[in-house]
Amino acid sequence: MTSDAKRIEQLRREIRRHDYLYYVQVAPEVSDRRYDALFDELKRLEAEHPELIAPDSPTQRVGGRPIEGFAKVRHDPPMLSIDNTYNLDELREFDARVARTLGDEPYRYIAEPKIDGVAASLRYEDGVLTLAATRGDGRTGDDITANARTIKSIPLRLALGRSGEPEEIPRLLEVRGEIYWPKDAFAKFNAARAAAGADTFANPRNAAAGTLKQLDPKVAAERSLAFIAHGFGAVEPMTCNSAFEFIAMLKRWGVPASLHACLCDSADEVCKFIEQWAEKRYDLPYETDGAVVKVDSLAQRRALGATSRYPRWCIAYKYAAERAQTVLRDVSFQVGRLGTITPVAHFDPVQLAGTTVSNASLHNFDQIERLDVHLGDAILVEKAGEIIPQVVQVVTAKRPKDAKVIRPPGKCPACSGAAGRDEGGVHIRCMNPLCPAQLKERLRFFAGRNQMDIENLGPALIDQLIDKALVRHFADLYSLSAEQLTGLERMGEKSAENFLAAVEASKNRGLARLLAGLGIRHVGGRAADILARHFGDIDSLAAAGADELADVEEIGPVIAASVRQFFAGKQGREIIERLKAVGVKMLAEGGATPAGEGTLAGKTIVVTGTLENYTRSEVKELIKNLGGRSASSVSKKTAFVLAGVDPGSKVDKAKTLGVRIINEEEFTKMIGKSSQPSAFSKSQTDETADG
Ligand code: IVH
Repeated sequence: MTSDAKRIEQLRREIRRHDYLYYVQVAPEVSDRRYDALFDELKRLEAEHPELIAPDSPTQRVGGRPIEGFAKVRHDPPMLSIDNTYNLDELREFDARVARTLGDEPYRYIAEPKIDGVAASLRYEDGVLTLAATRGDGRTGDDITANARTIKSIPLRLALGRSGEPEEIPRLLEVRGEIYWPKDAFAKFNAARAAAGADTFANPRNAAAGTLKQLDPKVAAERSLAFIAHGFGAVEPMTCNSAFEFIAMLKRWGVPASLHACLCDSADEVCKFIEQWAEKRYDLPYETDGAVVKVDSLAQRRALGATSRYPRWCIAYKYAAERAQTVLRDVSFQVGRLGTITPVAHFDPVQLAGTTVSNASLHNFDQIERLDVHLGDAILVEKAGEIIPQVVQVVTAKRPKDAKVIRPPGKCPACSGAAGRDEGGVHIRCMNPLCPAQLKERLRFFAGRNQMDIENLGPALIDQLIDKALVRHFADLYSLSAEQLTGLERMGEKSAENFLAAVEASKNRGLARLLAGLGIRHVGGRAADILARHFGDIDSLAAAGADELADVEEIGPVIAASVRQFFAGKQGREIIERLKAVGVKMLAEGGATPAGEGTLAGKTIVVTGTLENYTRSEVKELIKNLGGRSASSVSKKTAFVLAGVDPGSKVDKAKTLGVRIINEEEFTKMIGKSSQPSAFSKSQTDETADG
């Protein structure tokens, strides 16, 4: 080994040790500056010797390019949810059930604060991080490896113990825990965004979830998310019988795990733990709304078993939602993408569950009437599950004499157009289809990741495009020129070019995502998918009558009527014609049902290298549509590796494991003529209502 190679190894070891001390022991030995100096030296040496760069080097957390989509990952064993309770009597009933099942055996619990984060599973093979996945529905989640790698408290490879002595590391280790956005880092990030005039995130949990769903790991890398382990999935070999001991072992391997796990010998002790943490929990670096109580012995866990949703050895105690009293000062009105005008309450700032709140949505005017809330009223605000604050009650006894009734706006607060109740009478709507506030929201939605996915079309750019009347219709986006764009604020030549390329690329998202993006009432991602599959192209869909539409499986009369109304109206037809004229594709490529559906049923396939006929996300989607599953790493369970040009180390791994390797031509033959990429891809959020 050359001296540089030696130094690189030494630096990596040292950096890993400091990571361990910082993230697991929470007891750093060196200053940030010293740490940065080591890191910079390593980066410099690696730049001089690119051949020595290893994927698990501390410098390799952010990959080169954005990924194209999220492959699905199956959880085995599944990631179950936990049964909840809000009172201590129920907790004692849980304990009585445990005692009954275990008979005379002594047992104990481990109690921990419940972390309000995003559940994730990390897979280590021979000590190296190979896969990270979200919980998803518990059985299947998303492969978020690229984003998880950016999280500094997630070791890229398992460490040796503190003493530096090697410790038996399992062949396979699936660590389960929560990814969260530490409260401090979240507040800082939001403050910086606010200062830059960008929207702020409402709460750290959702923002962390959103971050993990970003395709570009650079975004995640900027957000200082963190991880804490609280359990495990498959472990081979499993050498201990106590969850508490296992946590200690995880820490020795360098995985941060709960610092506050507490062994309790009885329900009384558990209750004490819960009381102790009722207030202290606000000092934790993450949000927590309860405590998790688990039987410690793994053998006893097996004896207790699980229902289809919850293990019988575990329960979550939730603290009551916090309430605070304040005074309502003002109500403003926000206009949504379908014209819905949502009242928003502004009140004197109050501390609630550890944060200061001063606004809350009042949802609609029915809600205002139900609460009978007036301006100047004393109100009770609650933050249920520490998520979104709600106005829950008026303290009528304290109503001041001059309290004012809140009247629905007679006109739109954004465009002064007529406003009126919608059919159901619940919402007030702006009736002006050209209302700029609506158009902004519609455009934001149209460009959203699950719709037309136009990168860089953020709120600041949308504001400018609409305020300067450069865009009045969706179709106008496609006729923008570089000159028009470079005249805008914060838009250089390079960013204009990138933006135009993103707009151009969005023409090929296919019918399903276009339909989802149009903002037809009640047509969310799922309905759009079904309609696109069924009708195949926009003209067939536009020509369908309400009955024909309602006959489609899962499409009810409400959606059918709304689709009909859209295509029958002059405005809807015009939107479609104009988008067609600028070249937006309106075909559900792949046809109504792919011919070879099921061809890959039950097969796990790994794709590597560049393919000629498909992008990475297209081929993954195709595999999914044909019943298969695409995975990112090769194992014995892999059915075959599809290798394109310049395949990576995955081919080598396949060779070692004796897994079949095929090229693109063989793959096309295997799946027959149904190999067109289809437009039914990413799962979409069903955002059918606005506001
Ligand atoms: S133990 C069978 N411990 O809460 C699952 N879960 O609401 C056993 N969670 O899905 C999980 N903090 O993702 C456990 N200290 C903790 C936890 C915790 C948060 C999550 C977990 C679970 C969810 C249920």
